[in-house]
Parts: sequence; structure tokens; C-alpha cells
Amino acid sequence: MKPVDFLGGLKSTMEFQVFIDPLLVNSQSESALGSVTDRAREMAQGLHETYGQMKALADLGELPYSLHIARLCLYETLLSTAMVAAHERTGQMVPSELDLQNASVHIKEMIEHVGIQVLYVTYYYVVGHDLLQPFAYHKEMTEYDFFIGVRHYPYPAENLDIILPIALYRRVLRLQHRDGERVLAITKSGTRVYSWAHQCLIDSNYIEKRIHLSYVYQFDAVKDWDELSHTVWPEMDQARTDYIKWLDLPSEQSMLEVACGTGALTFDAGLYQHAATRGHLVATDSSVGMLEQAQQKHRKYGAPITVSFELASVERLPFPDDTFDVCIGSFFLHFVNPHKAISEMMRVVRPGGIVSVFQGYDFDVNKPFFKDWFHPILELTGNLNANSSGHFNANNRTTYMPSAENIPAWFHEVGLEQVRLDLHSSPWVFDNPDVVVQHIVRGVSFFQKELHELPWDDRRAVIEELIQRGQDVRRKYPVGERMIELPGVMIQGAKPV
Ligand SMILES: C[S@@+](CC[C@H](N)C(=O)[O-])C[C@H]1O[C@@H](n2cnc3c(N)ncnc32)[C@H](O)[C@@H]1O
Repeated sequence: MKPVDFLGGLKSTMEFQVFIDPLLVNSQSESALGSVTDRAREMAQGLHETYGQMKALADLGELPYSLHIARLCLYETLLSTAMVAAHERTGQMVPSELDLQNASVHIKEMIEHVGIQVLYVTYYYVVGHDLLQPFAYHKEMTEYDFFIGVRHYPYPAENLDIILPIALYRRVLRLQHRDGERVLAITKSGTRVYSWAHQCLIDSNYIEKRIHLSYVYQFDAVKDWDELSHTVWPEMDQARTDYIKWLDLPSEQSMLEVACGTGALTFDAGLYQHAATRGHLVATDSSVGMLEQAQQKHRKYGAPITVSFELASVERLPFPDDTFDVCIGSFFLHFVNPHKAISEMMRVVRPGGIVSVFQGYDFDVNKPFFKDWFHPILELTGNLNANSSGHFNANNRTTYMPSAENIPAWFHEVGLEQVRLDLHSSPWVFDNPDVVVQHIVRGVSFFQKELHELPWDDRRAVIEELIQRGQDVRRKYPVGERMIELPGVMIQGAKPV
């Protein structure tokens, strides 16, 4: 590989199940992981002694060798790879000894196939991208702000300290003296390098993976999910109850619910009643935090013994083929690979069994109040659209959600039969700005792509601005004009016999 084949390097990491993410390895996660980090350091040192010596890194082209970066590369890659594997297995980012060993094996395999320099260069550009991102937006900052990490959280000063001389040497940043202050500014070449690196991260699906990981944090962290969503979506229980009625399930079914969240469908809409007596309902979700809230609701509903819970991703369901009569889920397809998810749902139902989903689809964002309120996001979307990966399509319908045609097409593609569907919509009310913004940004996680374009402190600033704008919009438009009908599809199909 040529030293600047960043995209090729990123693809190699994916191929060997290696995930380089320095953002995951920060002082907070390290203190939460305790002795796991010591073990990771020990293993990374072993990798360094075997593969990371300077002579093995001869093919770095223009890049300078740094002993510190070579070590960091192995340590952070090992730990972030193991953290992601642990999360896939347990829902939490706490790696076991086996996760660390597996991560080490994957890294060794990658190094032996493509060479240590590929890993090093890929790491270097991931870090370089994160270093340049705040400069790409703000053009400059004082050297002092840079070192205290004002815009580079969670990179610690001692790592920024190593990267800066390299950035200056490579002329992507330059140091200026202005009014007695030392100011770091991005150069034209730095802007080009940033855009190129960012595009490589998009093209390799790396950004998408980072966004997926951020969903994990978000769902785990939203403690007031039910309150937020009921305020914005007053008819949410009714909508789900209508769906269960529409499905018209027999009682005493053996059922699997995917992405159950806090149990809105499971309990509030009465799904559990179809698993009475000899039936059974296993409610699953990939977020520990969401499952905890669902378990609390289970107690509130008298702890029916026919309901149990399991941590599981809908993309890898831990159940044998042909296990359930019914597999069902609501409002989750926009967070997952829909094809994988529906295939998995079909796999675990018996021949003749039912797969069913209630899912929102793309809605119109042309309403004046919405444009007014979410203007900063729509602007970011405009930038993204210029790179053809934005979140609103030409008709100004949001693409956070699938289109109404996508959903039945996926059902047919995986081979489900006797597909039937109906449409069902209910209003979202954009009233209390704090609640609306919390729900949309933290809750249903819209705008993640847009927000990921920004340095972390600017994300916060945009969220604050949205709350502020919401207050103005509330004064300007009567509540009747601050509503959007969220369209939904109720769909079911049967597994071929
Ligand atoms: C918008 S909530 C919907 C929850 C619930 N079904 C409802 O209708 O209110 C989306 C849920 O999908 C879950 N989720 C996201 N990715 C998932 C995955 N890969 N596997 C399983 N659940 C996932 C989230 O943790 C969250 O609980």
C-alpha cells in the first residue's frame, strides 16, 4: 500500500475486524475499565515488541516515525477493538480477557497480511482527521485552547502534544503570533487533507460505525425516554395499540420482540397479553439502559411470568432457527441494517410463522415552523447533501426514516410471503423546546449524521441553539401549526412453509 492509501487501510481494518477509535479510549473510559487497561497495555507492548519496531515501519513515506504514536496506535486499537466486541456480546463496553485476546489476534492477522505500516498510517490519519476537524470549522484557535483540549475532547494534552509538531512539520497547521498570543491556524493543504480524510471515513462506513456506537451511548443514557416521547408523541400508546389490534394475533403465542425499548409495545400496547398461559414473550433490545426501563415496566404490570428479557441485537439474534410463532418490533429499522434485521427475524420464526413491524417512514420537513426551528441542522444537511450523503432528499422528506416503499420491498426481498400492510399516522407536537430537542436529538437520535460533522463542543452549541430557536418558534407559530404527522407502516409477512 502507498502510505496515503487511507481508504484501503480503513477497508483492511474492517476486513480483519479491527476498529481503530481513539475517541473510545479516553480518561473516563480508562478509569471505568480499571485493570482491563493495564492488561491491554501489556498486550499492546507485546505486539509492539514483535511488530512495531522502527525498522518494520520503513515504508512510511513522508510520515515521521514516532515511538509514542506507534505504541499508542497498538494500545488504542487493541482496546477499542475489544470494547466494540464486548459491546456486541454483552451490550456493555467492558472487554473480558477473551475479548482482548481476540482483538490481539485480529490485529496480528491484519499486520501479518498487510503490514504494520498500514495499521500505523490508518491510525495516523484517523487521529489527524480528529485533530483537524475543529480547525476545519473554526480555522484557528490559540495554542493554549488547543492544549487544554477545548475543542479536542477527549484527546488528552499529552497526545495532542505529540501530534502538533507533526501537523506543523506536515504544514497542515501553522503557528502565528498575534497580539501577543500564539495562534494555530489550518492551512489550505490542511483543509484539503481534512476533506479527503473525512470523505475516506464516510466512504469506508467508518463514520456510520461511529454513529452506531453513539446510538448505544444515547439509548443507554436516556433515562426519561417514556416521558420525553409521550410529551412529543401524545398518541404513541394508541398508535401501538391500534397496531396490535390490526395484527389480530391468536393468544398463547410464542413470541420474540426485537428492539423493545422501554416496553411501549410489550406492555403499554398489550403485546404481552397474546403470550398468556402457555405462550411466551421474549423481549430483546441491544441497550442495557432500555432493557432496565422495560424491566421496571414489567414490575409495574404485575410481572407476568410469561415475559422474559434478553440483551440482543436484532442483527444477530441469539436463537436457533424456527423457534418462535411470531417475531415483532416497532420503530427500530432506521437504527439498523434493515435487510439483516428482517432476515434474522425471519430466520428465528417457524415455517408459517409471522414477521411483523410497525415502522415510521420519511416525513415532510417543508413546514415553515420546522424550517425555522431546525435551520442550523438544515444548513448542515445542505453541506452534507453537497457531498451526497445528507439526510433530506430532493423532495425535502427526511431520510432518517426509510421510505414507505422500502419497507414492503425489504419484506419481499428476504422471502416473506403473504405480505400485507396498512398505513397509520399520528401527530408529533413540537411544543416545549427542551423536551422536543431532547427527544429528537437524544431520544430518537435524528440529526446524528449532521451533528457528527461538527467538533464536539459545537454539537453542544447547536443543541443549545435549537432549544433557543424553539422558544422563538413557539412564540411565532400557534401550536396547531407546530405539528408533523408521523406516517407509519404496519406490515406483516409469513415465513414460507
Ligand atoms: C425508537 S426506540 C423504539 C422502542 C420500542 N420498540 C417502541 O416502539 O417504542 C428504538 C430501540 O431500538 C433499539 N436498538 C437500536 N439498535 C438496535 C439493534 N441493533 N438491535 C436491537 N435493538 C436496537 C434501541 O436501543 C431502542 O431501544
